[in-house]
Amino acid sequence: MSCRSRSSRCAALPLVVRVPTLRGSEEGRRSWRHGSPAERATLQHVPATVIVGAQWGDEGKGKIVDLLAQESDLVCRYQGGPNAGHTIVVDGDTYKIRQIPSGIVAGKPSAIGAGCVVDPAVLISELDELESRGHPTAGFVFVSGNAHLVMPWHVALDGARERRLGRLQIGTTRRGIGPAYADKATRIGIRVQDLLDPKILRQKLELAVAEKNVWLERVYELEPFDVEGIVRTHLAFAERLGPYVADTSLLVDRALREGKRVLFEGAQGTLLDLDHGTYPFVTSSSPIAAGAAVSFGIGPNRIDEVVGVAKAYVTRVGEGPFPSEIEGPAHERVRELGQEFGTVTGRERRCGWLDLVALRFAVRVNGITSLALTKLDVLSGFAELPICARYRLPDGSETDEFPAHQSDFHHCRPVFETLPGWTGELVGDLPGPARAYVSFVEDALRVPVTLVGTGAGREAVLALG
Ligand code: IMP
Repeated sequence: MSCRSRSSRCAALPLVVRVPTLRGSEEGRRSWRHGSPAERATLQHVPATVIVGAQWGDEGKGKIVDLLAQESDLVCRYQGGPNAGHTIVVDGDTYKIRQIPSGIVAGKPSAIGAGCVVDPAVLISELDELESRGHPTAGFVFVSGNAHLVMPWHVALDGARERRLGRLQIGTTRRGIGPAYADKATRIGIRVQDLLDPKILRQKLELAVAEKNVWLERVYELEPFDVEGIVRTHLAFAERLGPYVADTSLLVDRALREGKRVLFEGAQGTLLDLDHGTYPFVTSSSPIAAGAAVSFGIGPNRIDEVVGVAKAYVTRVGEGPFPSEIEGPAHERVRELGQEFGTVTGRERRCGWLDLVALRFAVRVNGITSLALTKLDVLSGFAELPICARYRLPDGSETDEFPAHQSDFHHCRPVFETLPGWTGELVGDLPGPARAYVSFVEDALRVPVTLVGTGAGREAVLALG
């Protein structure tokens, strides 16, 4: 891996800096920013790190995972399914991965946890593609037997519900995610391990198809599914996927006991979290860092570090309130420069200026210990850069904490502070105003920014330290 540090020399990984508890005093201020030498010495070994999206998804987590995966022994995806789309560019080759943890591109053993939903057809096509591009998958990819399957009726129902909601739609990826998690919660889901027993698989499929066909035909006036066809395709999926099914809780537990470094990779982002996000405009799983422990069946005290990944601005796909959304021509400019089009759906992403209120919330609910600020290069060339520092609430008061009540959030207005911009490519040291932009974020959130993304390629990351 090649990386460029502030002092133009390659900083040694790991790049994670622990946030000390001492805050407020000058000593605390100095140490939270970059960690004391003694603290950094203890960071040479960071067994369990969670990488979490700190905004509404698409923060560039794949690239940060790819970078930190080089130093990891096991990479674990903990929620979501084929609604995610991680793009990794290696030596000009682009990988778009939806189901398998992006650590696989770095050649690391990769596990899919119980908290994920798996579309078997998507997973198989990814396995086939990775193998055809020279990445072995046998003995490298592990899928929890407790993960639930995304079935064809989930995809059909997701689309049908969105169509029926009309202008009230959520703007889902239409990959069947909500219906798959709903079936899990109502305990009629089909799990990966059901694939391993043809008798149980048939029984469960017959039950599910009978019920889903009623919904499809009577409620949504759609074609029913043929149970025999579904059984046939899923028996074929079982043959291909059987060797990858594993006890991923035990796998992670053993790795941690042996002192190995485990990286947990989240999909989507904090504000799309089912419990803590901007409901109902959320996904149906738990992208927040605690989701990693739940999905892999390990105690929360096994997690050492939480790296929040945030773009230097914000994007959002789908519907829902978005206080710092850019108005005017700058919106199109950011979208074009940042190539803000969805990996999974190709939809145009909505773009906003960096929102510190939302980021402060992400730091809180995830316990973020350091931040990776991606795509800073996209902001080059703007004379001035607004940053949303506070929200103005409907009663006229201002807050720098994320509103707990949906009406406050829906009706709040952004209060911007404006920083000077910079020009030119971000190669070598950051120009003064870009450094000031990063420091402004650190000061506001009291969390160190340890990585800065300066371009699309794998090597275009600056390690600050
Ligand atoms: P679902 O996850 O397909 O059910 O979609 C629910 C919401 O999450 C919609 O607003 C989607 O646009 C959003 N969403 C789902 N996956 C991603 C992602 O990977 N990046 C950004 N937004 C996503």
